[in-house]
Amino acid sequence: MEEKIVVIDNGGQYCHLIATKVRTKHNVYSEILPPNCSVDDVQGAKGIILSGSPFSIYNENKPDFNEKLFSLGIPVLGICYGNYLVASTLGGKVVASEKKEYGLAKLLKKKDSVLLEGCGKEEIVWMSHGDKIVAIPKTFEILGSTENCEFAAIADEKKKIFGVQFHPEVVDTKKGDIILGNFVHKICGCVGEWKISDYIAQKQIELKNEIGKKKVLLLVSGGVDSTVCASLLSKVLAREQLFCLHIDNGLMRKNESAEVKEMLKEIKNFKVVDASKMFLDRLKEKYEPEEKRKIIGQTFIDVANKEIENLGLDDWLLAQGTIYPDTIESGGTKHADVIKTHHNRVDIIKKMIEDKKIVEPVKDLYKEEVRDLGTALGLFENFVWRHPFPGPGLGVRALCSVGKKEEFSVLKEKLNSLGLKYDFDVLPCRSVGVKGDERSYEHPAIISGVWDWKELEKASTRVVNEVRGINRAIYLLPGQSINSMEPIKAYLTKERLDLLREADAIVMGEIEKAGLMRKIWQFPTVLVPVNVNGKGEALILRPVFSTIAMTAKFADLPLEVVESIKKKLLAIKGVGAVFYDITHKPPGTIEWE
Ligand code: XMP
Repeated sequence: MEEKIVVIDNGGQYCHLIATKVRTKHNVYSEILPPNCSVDDVQGAKGIILSGSPFSIYNENKPDFNEKLFSLGIPVLGICYGNYLVASTLGGKVVASEKKEYGLAKLLKKKDSVLLEGCGKEEIVWMSHGDKIVAIPKTFEILGSTENCEFAAIADEKKKIFGVQFHPEVVDTKKGDIILGNFVHKICGCVGEWKISDYIAQKQIELKNEIGKKKVLLLVSGGVDSTVCASLLSKVLAREQLFCLHIDNGLMRKNESAEVKEMLKEIKNFKVVDASKMFLDRLKEKYEPEEKRKIIGQTFIDVANKEIENLGLDDWLLAQGTIYPDTIESGGTKHADVIKTHHNRVDIIKKMIEDKKIVEPVKDLYKEEVRDLGTALGLFENFVWRHPFPGPGLGVRALCSVGKKEEFSVLKEKLNSLGLKYDFDVLPCRSVGVKGDERSYEHPAIISGVWDWKELEKASTRVVNEVRGINRAIYLLPGQSINSMEPIKAYLTKERLDLLREADAIVMGEIEKAGLMRKIWQFPTVLVPVNVNGKGEALILRPVFSTIAMTAKFADLPLEVVESIKKKLLAIKGVGAVFYDITHKPPGTIEWE
């Protein structure tokens, strides 16, 4: 039987990341199960990992946990809340702590153990917890402590039950991969022979069972997620069962729909529908980001339904290339806040999911894994490494506004009182961000002065952390000055979208030329309805480094590349200024809406 590690999902933000790491870094298949799963569900597992949780162990409505999981003789590793479960279930005590511990901490090794093999006497670990273990179960020992957390790593090594307060699954825990690897290989005894091709084989069986004889209409955007789905589904379904539909929503990049048409021409039942007029009509005079997103999501389904009707499909399913972050950021897991409604998580889709009308072959995967899957399925390397592009496309990159003027003197005063060696202003528009796991919709601060990425990063961090009402910092690229900034009435019109398409094509061309495509996770260009110096609208460059899109760092690109992009963009008629977004995520999101 195949080696398997079970990850118990207590609702923590990083639960899926643990499963991904076990699969991709340690080559062992891993499966996510709810905390009240039965003993039969975990039969055959080589190890069990208990994830973190937004709940306190003493909350009445905390997830219902099956305590029998500790008595099966299967090794267990509790992480964060999982550590509290280990301690409190097996006879220790957990209380609310006065001192919360967020961010980096120093773990001091207290005892040699298999779990911490390969770690030094002191290691940097990442913590995010509010409660505290005050007594560990009798048979347990302390393996490591931090300043605020005596029981940062504990174990009953005989029974192979371990707990860590820190998060080994996040990159900030320097030796996190080694620690998880020790658990998976040395403690659970996994050999680690799982490959992504095994995933393909298993997914094919699951998809066959799920779909049966039904017909499937797959929405293909031309991005890696939906194309990987097309490839997977075409291996499972009979040719007459699969229909692929590309909807040109008028919000695509320059020439993109034509390229998709060319790329997928081999697929038998493939059709491109030009629905751009319908999308733009429905979006007319809309400016609120969530409303725009919902209209776009709904219109996708309306067009798809029409096509299902045209094709005369009776017993059908709609397939889409949803990946895991789409679900969690749309508040689609039990405890998450709605940061943005992703186009594939609007109400009508949620209802269709309930009615079992939707199939999502890669919904548990992160982008990295979808790329691995694409490579294993034989898709072209250049294609697999395309940057992610949001479903609502340029619809969330061309910001809209009714052009209302606002007063910023208080905000400007607060910015100037930080005592930083930069000049500050406020951009008269708002953008979406994520602060403390919640959505924000606030103004960006404009920073101008010396072009030094390190100093700008420090300034950006202070601005977004210390000035309420500001959730982003943007840098006015040198060689420009601002004499006036007027918010203007602007909506999703073809003219504005064409301008943005042109700008985006220039940006993409320049980074391709500079060989930076693979280094950068994504590079949105954003059009902002603010007229600068009476010359035209503002453009924002938003290149980011990321691995799973849940967090991101603004990308400090070589100055000469940025300079060249800026010059070319300023030459476009209707562009008034070019700014550079220097905000990490959180508190900024990658996209502005
Ligand atoms: P944010 O802006 O939330 O984006 O930091 C995280 C990642 O998700 C992409 N994104 C979307 N993808 N449908 C998608 O398929 C959507 O509605 C959507 N909104 C954002 C975004 O481009 C980034 O890669």
